[in-house]
Amino acid sequence: MGRLVVISNRTANLGKNTQIGGLAVGIVDALRKQGGLWAGWDGSVVDDAAAATTKIQTHGNVTTLTTALTSEEHEKYYLGFSNRVLWPAFHYRLDLMDYRMEFADSYSATNEKFAELIRGHLRDDDVIWVHDYHLIPMAAELRKRNCKNKIGFFLHIPFPSADIFSAVPRHEWLRYCLLQFDLIGFQTVNDVHNFHRYLKEHSDAAIISPEVVRVNDRTINIGHFPIGIDVQQFAKASARTDDTIELERMRRKVLQRFQVISADRLDYSKGLPHRMKAFRKFLEICPEYQGHADYLQIASPSREDVTAYSDIKAELEQLAGAVNGRFADFNWAPIQYINRNIPREKLAPLFRSSLVGLITPLRDGMNLVAKEYIAAQDDKDPGILILSKFAGAAEELSEALIVNPYDISEVAGALKTAVAMPLEERQLRHRKLLKRITDHDAQWWQRQYLQALQRGDQHPTANE
Ligand code: G6P
Repeated sequence: MGRLVVISNRTANLGKNTQIGGLAVGIVDALRKQGGLWAGWDGSVVDDAAAATTKIQTHGNVTTLTTALTSEEHEKYYLGFSNRVLWPAFHYRLDLMDYRMEFADSYSATNEKFAELIRGHLRDDDVIWVHDYHLIPMAAELRKRNCKNKIGFFLHIPFPSADIFSAVPRHEWLRYCLLQFDLIGFQTVNDVHNFHRYLKEHSDAAIISPEVVRVNDRTINIGHFPIGIDVQQFAKASARTDDTIELERMRRKVLQRFQVISADRLDYSKGLPHRMKAFRKFLEICPEYQGHADYLQIASPSREDVTAYSDIKAELEQLAGAVNGRFADFNWAPIQYINRNIPREKLAPLFRSSLVGLITPLRDGMNLVAKEYIAAQDDKDPGILILSKFAGAAEELSEALIVNPYDISEVAGALKTAVAMPLEERQLRHRKLLKRITDHDAQWWQRQYLQALQRGDQHPTANE
């Protein structure tokens, strides 16, 4: 088996003492097992192309190949086409889509730049794995450069319904680009259905089977591969408690208080205002919990140069202030709102000490926080997860309390059910959820995907 080459917009620093998290866990594990190359953006922005030098760093058998973005690429490729067009559209927010032709041009040109950079480092037997919506044209660009390697794509965010995708300017070009990959991986069955339906309605592609599509002489495999987490690593981190968290936990016990926790990037797709309103409703319908329920919302800053993100930030601050102003007492404020990055090792014990994990995005590819909340629980006295039916994770985590995040009363009702749930029921639900995220962890995800990519052309229907 050849090397693994991973291409993603963001890359992780693999230096000795750096914590890696989220999707990077599965990727790094695969890279270390197989040996390989990780290529992408180094996270820096420079004024002009001449200053964007390429960095090559080696950590054991893994090499990273990274470069800066110019301020123009950052503005048009990253903030522009990726995050003002594809991100809102794929999260069903066509109202927030802000398309300009120069965004699409820069998106195409930046993919070309990455492909040009990477091409010179490829070997004939490398297996290439491209990640996420920033890099849809990558296979097409590499093919133009005579790359015959297996190239797979994994979309971390939802694939929207056919109507929505067809409203994205230049969707025909995006479709052409997607179909240059050998394997297109999605998070959920629903995403696969949406993609099939789009192909049926808007292309000549022949759908041979649920997993195989033919276009001209190309065979493309399609599948769903729900991403997982490193359950053991997160569980270990959750049991490590620092003094402040321990003190806070004791204080709550004495005062008969419980915590509801949410942790997200500050993104309009996460449904934060709806969630705060649901918590407000909960305090209204269950006044007995006023003074006893603490809602901790951690929202890490994200893409702040995009207007839709600064708008949501202002809305949340206003809402948290209004709820606190209405319900707070001298010794209690219902909402603790933190708009900072909190390291994952700090988050884990906070999840463990919270009776409810409230994860209610309006749309989400998977939502790894839902899985982290489960992994962090103490199995003797586990908390309960309230999960949006529009998070990809809801396809797997059916023992959570599944809610419609747009229905404020329903979410408030789920909070009421969760805080009154008997211990045995919490334990039963937790056991099932924990088993599922352990069986389908980060390693499982990358193994499933890479096996499907390697065996692609041996698929029974692929060579007919
Ligand atoms: C989502 C996307 C990732 C992205 C991450 C952080 O999870 O699927 O591709 O890296 O958000 O967003 P950012 O824009 O900061 O990379």
